[in-house]
Amino acid sequence: MNSFWEWMKTRLGIEELWNALFARHVPEAKGWTAWLYTLGSASLFVFTVQAITGALLAMNYVPSPDHAYDSIRFINEQVLLGRFLRGLHHWGATAMVILVSLHMLRVYFMGSYKYPREATWIVGVLIFLVVMGFSFTGYLLPWDQKAYWATMVGVNISAQVPVIGEYIGKVLKGGDEMGAVTLTRFYAIQVLVLPAIILGALAIHLFLVVWHGISESPTRKEDDQNKNAGTGILQ
Ligand code: HEM
Repeated sequence: MNSFWEWMKTRLGIEELWNALFARHVPEAKGWTAWLYTLGSASLFVFTVQAITGALLAMNYVPSPDHAYDSIRFINEQVLLGRFLRGLHHWGATAMVILVSLHMLRVYFMGSYKYPREATWIVGVLIFLVVMGFSFTGYLLPWDQKAYWATMVGVNISAQVPVIGEYIGKVLKGGDEMGAVTLTRFYAIQVLVLPAIILGALAIHLFLVVWHGISESPTRKEDDQNKNAGTGILQ
């Protein structure tokens, strides 16, 4: 067993990977502000919950106007833990939007997007747009009155974009009317297109977070001066 572990360690670089990911140094944050640094990991946790519950829901959901609504009822009423899974996925989506937005705000207000972390921020903006895309496309899937008309409003808003608006509306709907093609399209975007983009973007995002290390908490100039008081270091 021991030699198997040794074999694994040298072949997969497990120790180096562990040290780089989990045993790395992070700057000290004072008081409650330390909690703000957990928002990225909290977003990652909820994203994982969404991926797992989404995959389980997809096993019983049928993306067609004739069956979508009934398949959701089937999940709620017949599938083992179906209502619980659906609830987790539903509230997980809301939690994700809130957590990612708060994470973005903490990064902005602490100036953590500045040199050398601009690329981390830019990839983050892409992730934020994808999270919005998940919410928008997921909302239609239950195919009830609320889903249908709310999506109609969303599609009509995007159709107001100057010059290309009408085209965007048509592409989203898959034609002039909202119907079977729209539902299939939204489902494909939700389970194929957006997951592929977010997985790639998250891999880059997290690599950059580890690569650059976490930024220092911003300090007030007076605090910096006090810190160096008596040390002979001049500001
Ligand atoms: C699913 C969405 C996201 C996940 C899972 C995620 C994950 C993380 C994690 C784990 C960290 C390190 C810990 C921390 O600072 O909280 C981090 C840092 C960072 N994130 Fe995100 N993030 C997401 C979205 C975003 C968004 C939307 C932005 C901005 C538009 C962003 C910009 C940054 C930046 C600039 C850092 C570096 C902060 C520093 O070094 O202090 N992230 N992210």
